[in-house]
Amino acid sequence: MTLKNKSMHENYSLKNIRAIIQTFVCPTCGGKLFFHDSAFICACSKRYPIKNDIVLLNKKISRDDVKLSLRSWNKLYRKQNKINISYQEALQNSYIQAYLHFVKKHMINDYFIDIGAGSGMMALVVNKLYKKNPILIDFSLDALFEAKENFKSNKANGIFVCADITQNIFKKNSNQFFFSAMSLEYFKNLEEVFDHLHTALVKRGRLVFIIPKISLSTLTYHQLKSGDIPHVFGLKHLYEFIHLKILRGRYLKTGYNLSYTISRIKKMVTKSGFKIIYAGNLIMDYQFNSISNQMIKSLFKYIVKFSLFNPLMVFVIEK
Ligand SMILES: C[S@@+](CC[C@H](N)C(=O)[O-])C[C@H]1O[C@@H](n2cnc3c(N)ncnc32)[C@H](O)[C@@H]1O
Ligand SMILES: [Zn+2]
Repeated sequence: MTLKNKSMHENYSLKNIRAIIQTFVCPTCGGKLFFHDSAFICACSKRYPIKNDIVLLNKKISRDDVKLSLRSWNKLYRKQNKINISYQEALQNSYIQAYLHFVKKHMINDYFIDIGAGSGMMALVVNKLYKKNPILIDFSLDALFEAKENFKSNKANGIFVCADITQNIFKKNSNQFFFSAMSLEYFKNLEEVFDHLHTALVKRGRLVFIIPKISLSTLTYHQLKSGDIPHVFGLKHLYEFIHLKILRGRYLKTGYNLSYTISRIKKMVTKSGFKIIYAGNLIMDYQFNSISNQMIKSLFKYIVKFSLFNPLMVFVIEK
């Protein structure tokens, strides 16, 4: 069956089908996707079904780092259940405010693909402010269920895709704008992912991303909160050994996760062919919600303003 004669019982909208076919390829062979019998299919015979409006564009995960991260995120999402968040509430969030500053300036034609969208707060805000249907990608189905609920309660429209960003999922030279907030640090092969995102963008297409920066916060507070492996010669292997071999991943609460220096990321993206438009600390009102002691919380909120403590950086890069 072709796109034109889609029958009524396949209640996935034609607009969404088009968006998926224009954006993604088969993660197994890189081939073109077609819509047939309520699923996306490829000439290599792979079938990617749609479950509760979520396109399951995943092939089996073979990497140990990604498997550990997926297990950890699924567990967290099952526990937290952040649903029924209103768009107005999301808009007040200090992270969203900080992200919006960059997205407003760099988004092209209101085209928005959120890589590692989580419970969908940013995509929800983008849908409400700019009226386009964002595409939300996450490898955790639990995250996307939450995102979908949040979209539903806010009467918002989005396209939900369960996929692993370390697999080659995007169509070449087809995408105008990617956004990713704190989601590119959960695997080892970031260089390859940058190469893939570069290939996927159209000329002048942009990627805005937020990623952890090696800082006195990531080396202290974040070690206790969710574990963190600094991507720096010598330290990386030591921290991997402690976290993975001695502690057996117990303190890596969000899975395998790395922090980087600004110069390392600059080198990686330049090597992939990107031009750097902006690179710097993400300045925002950090909340430190997991600290209950008010004095310690105030101390962290004060010192995080200094670059040495600032835990996140933001990049705007262009093909
Ligand atoms: C820290 S959360 C950020 C969520 C959201 N972007 C935000 O700012 O609130 C990281 C998200 O990245 C997702 N993620 C991690 N590794 C991924 C991968 N390889 N492919 C797709 N999603 C991934 C996780 O499931 C999680 O939802
Ligand atoms: Zn295929």
